[in-house]
Amino acid sequence: MAPISALIGSTEDSARQILDAIESQFQLSDDALVRITDQFLKDFRLGLSEYNHPMAMIPTFVTGVPNGSETGLDLPRPRSRWNKPVRSRILTTECATYFTLFSRVCEVQLKGNHQFTLRQQKYRVSEALKTGEATALFDYLADSVDAFLTEFPSSPNSAPPDPFATGSSALDLLDTSDSSPAVPLGLTFSFPVEQTALNRGKVLTWTKGFSAKNAIGHDVVQLLQDAFDRKHLHVRCVALVNDTVGALLSRAYTAGGCILGSIFGTGTNGAYVEKVENITKLGDSPARKHGGDMVVNTEWGAFNNTRTTLPTTPYDNKLDRESINPRLQAFEKFISGMYLGEITRNIILSLIDAAPYPILFNGRASALLNKHYGLDTAVMSEIEQAWENGRDQPSSNDKLVNGSHAISNASAAHPHPSLSTPTRHFTEVDKLSPEDRSRLERIRNIVIQRFALDAADVTLRDAAIVHWTSCLVANRAAKLSGCAIAAVLVQTEKAKLGGGFVPKDEKITIGVDGSLIEHYPNFNARLRASVRTLVGEEVEARLNIGLAKDGSGVGAALCALQATKQGL
Ligand code: BGC
Repeated sequence: MAPISALIGSTEDSARQILDAIESQFQLSDDALVRITDQFLKDFRLGLSEYNHPMAMIPTFVTGVPNGSETGLDLPRPRSRWNKPVRSRILTTECATYFTLFSRVCEVQLKGNHQFTLRQQKYRVSEALKTGEATALFDYLADSVDAFLTEFPSSPNSAPPDPFATGSSALDLLDTSDSSPAVPLGLTFSFPVEQTALNRGKVLTWTKGFSAKNAIGHDVVQLLQDAFDRKHLHVRCVALVNDTVGALLSRAYTAGGCILGSIFGTGTNGAYVEKVENITKLGDSPARKHGGDMVVNTEWGAFNNTRTTLPTTPYDNKLDRESINPRLQAFEKFISGMYLGEITRNIILSLIDAAPYPILFNGRASALLNKHYGLDTAVMSEIEQAWENGRDQPSSNDKLVNGSHAISNASAAHPHPSLSTPTRHFTEVDKLSPEDRSRLERIRNIVIQRFALDAADVTLRDAAIVHWTSCLVANRAAKLSGCAIAAVLVQTEKAKLGGGFVPKDEKITIGVDGSLIEHYPNFNARLRASVRTLVGEEVEARLNIGLAKDGSGVGAALCALQATKQGL
């Protein structure tokens, strides 16, 4: 019998075969992208026609988007104890993750003219609240609002306090007497909720590592209102929005229109403007009869939970099996910040364990690398940034701009090669230029530090392989994100799958938010490259993708405004 070494060749050969196999599993051909987008469209239509599909296509009862002229001053004004008017305020609250878990309370003043001012405070949330009793989570949100009102008893431009109102407190200014209207508050709730009105909706499921008890099936507005009432806060939750809806509305407010709000952060999702006539599952309801447009929250994180179309690898399967929600949120697990680090960790572990020869770190791991979710997506971002720094031709099409500005043209006719083909120089580190070697040296230092490894176990070649791994995982995520965006463009008749369509609109405005799209090097450029493949250059060049900064706050405030106008 031939010795095993004869079968697998040299160490270098066996490593190359293993790495090649991984690379091919993570590559997405143009055909695969088209197939996935096509499936997206089918699932959109299914979700619009029937309830209880993973791609839930939730009607939000937000009809139309703002144009930027709205002001908060149309609100009913609370009156002070001395019957003097107090400047209106709209509060918003949410529980969100941006590297850490926090609750955020905002006070928003919509000034019209696409402008707003916002005061916000973040309050750290303990991880335990994610999995405890839901009432504890909502009590914490109510406590945050209470703390905010104590810290900021009046609006930034509020009338000076009444001179007779000595020792006035938050509650004085807000007037807790039954006759005065309570302070309106919009809740941003970034989880799937089946909405039945602007201010009503039942929690469908938890995502992103949350599993708080006794929330599913309950009305989320009621859960928060009960918490306010328990604390005797004179605050009324008048509207409920998903963070994607917030991104859509706030980008529409600042840019004067918008068709899609999407989040690429800890989780992923998109909400877009749909014709009510297409939301056939609304049946004969008044909302359907009314016609016009309605914002639909797609919940695309649950796309293809059966994984028949998604390009699943063993690393994805391991992640899913070990997650707290196996077989759910399949798309999100390929895309979002909560999971990319974990997929990368799974690949790295397989390379450490590779047989008969280890491929990474002399076959040694660290306690951190052995820990579930031990590798944060932020570390991948740091690694890719270390490679980008000092690059000859920085990618010009990756930046997103705040507010009403946006990158209007990203036609990356000459994208950096690593956008589509992750660098494969790991086999030939010795041949690299001194600049590239020094960039790899930086990556090596990050790897030693962030993975808590012994420096003696980390070579430059290891650093190059880790960089390549990050590129593979992030590139696939960005390309798949492009499929979701392309599907919305086709669904809203702004594009045709396969390209060749010239849109009427000069600009197609999209609002985005989330740590990946905001901070991960090249994410936006890679996503755009994928959209270009799917719907052609004409459409991609007109995409006006801009950051919906403070989208949750402004979007929820706009909804609260709409709700109070409707007398909710
Ligand atoms: C949730 C969505 C949310 C998205 C982004 C997903 O896990 O299901 O409702 O919009 O995360 O925060």
